Amino acid sequence: MTIRHYLQFTDCTADEYAHLFARAAEIKRKFKTYEKYHPLADRTLAMIFEKASTRTRVSFEAGMYQLGGSVVHLTTGDSQLGRAEPIEDSARVISRMTDLVMIRTFGQDKIEKFALHSRVPVINGLTNEFHPCQIMADIFTYIEHRGSIQGKVVAWVGDGNNMANTWLQAAELLGFTVHVSTPRGYEVNAEVAGVKGNAHYKVFSDPLEACRGADLVTTDVWTSMGYEAENEARKAAFADWCVDEAMMAVAKPDALFMHCLPAHRGEEVTAEVIDGAQSVVWDEAENRMHVQKALMEFLLLGRVNA
Ligand code: CP
Ligand code: NVA
Repeated sequence: MTIRHYLQFTDCTADEYAHLFARAAEIKRKFKTYEKYHPLADRTLAMIFEKASTRTRVSFEAGMYQLGGSVVHLTTGDSQLGRAEPIEDSARVISRMTDLVMIRTFGQDKIEKFALHSRVPVINGLTNEFHPCQIMADIFTYIEHRGSIQGKVVAWVGDGNNMANTWLQAAELLGFTVHVSTPRGYEVNAEVAGVKGNAHYKVFSDPLEACRGADLVTTDVWTSMGYEAENEARKAAFADWCVDEAMMAVAKPDALFMHCLPAHRGEEVTAEVIDGAQSVVWDEAENRMHVQKALMEFLLLGRVNA
């Protein structure tokens, strides 16, 4: 069997996402009813973190145990990764002893290089450019609450970052539109996002206009991990890109609010919005685990229907 990696959202087809979302729903049902499901017994997931994490670590670790497998947790600080062992060598060694690798790192080039030298599937747990597991969870959450996302409008308010890039990939692949509003100098770069054209996203200078008529309003931190030196400049530049009740008021009446978390109330979103009735951020966080369990099952066992 050829190895399948999950390094970008475009690494699965629309048809495979339909399968993954159906599996995530079934795997979630089993979890909620305490039904044992151990298809990955004796399999090991290596998790490599070069940046901090709460949700990604807990969701992959708990998820792998729930599927009957086990995990190995590595960070830059407590492994040879932080002492300049070549990525190629790390990939060769780690992938001889484990069945699956999840990596959170800086440049996408690092995870691509690791995957090139890995004997086992590699999953992107966030890079500077992409966060595909998060967008898979977000879309699954949307479907749970509102049904198909096809033809819908997602408003992205804030930084043209890894989350924004991945939303653009998902829109092109699954057939919806992203309204993007970022401060000047922080725009999304279609080339970095790897989208073919601009048919599935529209750029708005005014964040309120981006939210008008949206089915989903979403945002993220103003300063992503790795960009901390820009924090003060970003606080000034992003001051008007705070999702507030006025923005939610011009979205569709049944619009949802999402945030990948961690959130900073009073910066990118007001407390009223993130803690309000339209917010589904806790479902969104929980769903990371269910979609990633479906993904790990798919990468190791192919399409199963148990
Ligand atoms: N949303 C997300 O990936 O959270 P963590 O940084 O806590 O893993
Ligand atoms: N854009 C954020 C997402 C955190 C989950 C970051 O990269 O830090």
